[in-house]
Amino acid sequence: MALSLLPLLGLLSTILLPYAAAAAVPSFREAPAFCNGAACSSHVVHVMMPLDTNYIRGTMAAVLSVLQHSTCPENVTFHFLSVHLNVEISSLINSTFPFHAFKMYRFDPGRVSGKISKSVRHALDQPLNYARIYMADILPASVKRVIYLDSDIIVVDDISKLWGVDLEGKVLAAPEYCHANFTSYFTEAFWSDRMLAGVFEGKRACYFNTGVMVVDVERWRRGGYRRKVEEWMEVQKHKRIYHLGSLPPILLVFAGNIKGVEHRWNQHGLGGFTRGQSVCCIGAAWLRLDSRRPCSVDYLWAPYDLYRSSRVALEE
Ligand SMILES: *[C@@H]1O[C@H](CO)[C@@H](O)[C@H](O)[C@H]1NC(C)=O
Ligand SMILES: *[C@@H]1O[C@H](CO)[C@@H](O)[C@H](O)[C@H]1NC(C)=O
Ligand SMILES: *[C@@H]1O[C@H](CO)[C@@H](O)[C@H](O)[C@H]1NC(C)=O
Repeated sequence: MALSLLPLLGLLSTILLPYAAAAAVPSFREAPAFCNGAACSSHVVHVMMPLDTNYIRGTMAAVLSVLQHSTCPENVTFHFLSVHLNVEISSLINSTFPFHAFKMYRFDPGRVSGKISKSVRHALDQPLNYARIYMADILPASVKRVIYLDSDIIVVDDISKLWGVDLEGKVLAAPEYCHANFTSYFTEAFWSDRMLAGVFEGKRACYFNTGVMVVDVERWRRGGYRRKVEEWMEVQKHKRIYHLGSLPPILLVFAGNIKGVEHRWNQHGLGGFTRGQSVCCIGAAWLRLDSRRPCSVDYLWAPYDLYRSSRVALEE
């Protein structure tokens, strides 16, 4: 079951190829205006997503999918975290969604440099992959709750249903996978150290994926959770306690102490995909579609693809 993470990893590692090398600027179709239904006045949903030039096609599809299925799309605020506050990318988003306002924040990669130890997948060592740990510090104080979404997802239900989850005093809500082999996310060195492994003692710790999370930002800030995650990253630097990137230190802090939400909110794209499921974590769907070797989940993703073409920029 650890395999359920694979689509995500696959995306991260393969997606760096298409635009990065050529500095091609993609162009997107303009999305229509999405208007509120009745009774939306008090409605608000904050969504935070990482924004990386190399994943922009996924981001556009994700945003479209959220808006299209929202009852109150005008009240969904997207907050993007980006290493470079790239004007070209902001205007690309603005022109693709001319009827929607977005907020951009710079994520300073210096915050994690020196804290990232090499993982088994180079792509997971990208600083932006750690940005979710810092979102409570970056978001304005007025934001009390946020839904974090990776850029490789589409949402096929009203996101306000996820937004409305009762956290029951927990800091974080996500789908839990208690049948996944939790042991495999940490090394032998971790499990054989009684002090370290003791962190899970007396808890029913289950794997959860950090690609879809509802976070109580205030509780996160008050509890100093960023620091707690960073402390595990420091342990990792001295003693290899896990193989992957930003996920395990978050599991170390939260596993066994989150609010579980329905699995339909994070359907991994590893086959067996059927209609009616709500969120789908998918691999590099567009690479498979472009090479005319789609798999079944790609047909679900394709309707949200606003991509038109790329032109190679003359200058970088
Ligand atoms: C939701 O959007 C409507 C516009 O349709 C706006 O009047 C209202 O103030 C918004 N609500 C919040 C809480 O932002
Ligand atoms: C894009 O739109 C946002 C408001 O949604 C605005 O703050 C920002 O300046 C715009 N960026 C560009 C490059 O036009
Ligand atoms: C779980 O993973 C560990 C470490 O990778 C392995 O030794 C163990 O056999 C696995 N357990 C099951 C039930 O698959």
